[in-house]
Amino acid sequence: MTDFLEKGIDRIAILTGAGVSAESGLNTFRDSGGLWEGYDPLDIATVGVLDSNRDMVLDFYNSRRSQLNDCLPNPSHLAISNFQNNFSGHVFLITQNVDDLHERAGSSQVLHMHGSLRSMRCDYCSEEMDAIQKFEKSTACPSCGKAGKLRPDIVFFGEVPKGLDEIYIEIRSADLFVSIGTSGVVYPAAGFVAHARDNGAICVEINKEKSEVTNLFDISYSGLATEEVPRFFSSLLLKNKI
Ligand code: APR
Repeated sequence: MTDFLEKGIDRIAILTGAGVSAESGLNTFRDSGGLWEGYDPLDIATVGVLDSNRDMVLDFYNSRRSQLNDCLPNPSHLAISNFQNNFSGHVFLITQNVDDLHERAGSSQVLHMHGSLRSMRCDYCSEEMDAIQKFEKSTACPSCGKAGKLRPDIVFFGEVPKGLDEIYIEIRSADLFVSIGTSGVVYPAAGFVAHARDNGAICVEINKEKSEVTNLFDISYSGLATEEVPRFFSSLLLKNKI
């Protein structure tokens, strides 16, 4: 841990990506064996494909939702939640992930900027609700009763991520920005570090390997999230105990 964290840190923004859930058994996107290996994401995760081949898209997310039931939070999720619950300052957790492992590890405020596997939306009545474990085009919406327009509450490529106004307010006011387990290739999330830097935050990256934006961080810890994340946050907690 470098001394620059000696100074009082009061407001922290944390961004997580698929790498934080990898050791829970959930595939990342761009590593070997990743979800996008052998696929063009634009052939799955767009509104156009949802309209033209709804059952294929629903099936892709049904299987990811089902896989999630067999996964547990790992020490990274637990370390983040412990930090959130014990740090005296303000912590804002943003995740690109659509899994619920942060919540199941005890994190209460989590902003899922790319949506969540655990919820679904009806494009007839616009109702957002808990996702039915497995649903198809023919599944009737529990709210309006119509079939054919249920979709996972996932932000597809080309759609606007959730909570951006709140995210930028939090990043602008952060003393410390910590990015964990993301390749830094998908915007706007990949641009958060530049925004944090421009607004005076110390920027720390924890990732298995260099990301596309490693050069923008004040310090980058290379290693497995389940090793580096607990180490980082326990040390930060110690240094900022009043
Ligand atoms: N510990 C730390 N980092 C890891 C680990 C691990 N155990 N395993 C993988 N990583 C790192 C990889 O090195 C990679 O840099 O996590 C990163 C995962 O990158 P991606 O697979 O691209 O996932 P992510 O950055 O979250 O993708 C962003 O892209 O397709 C969209 O919506 C999707 O939210 C996703 C977004």
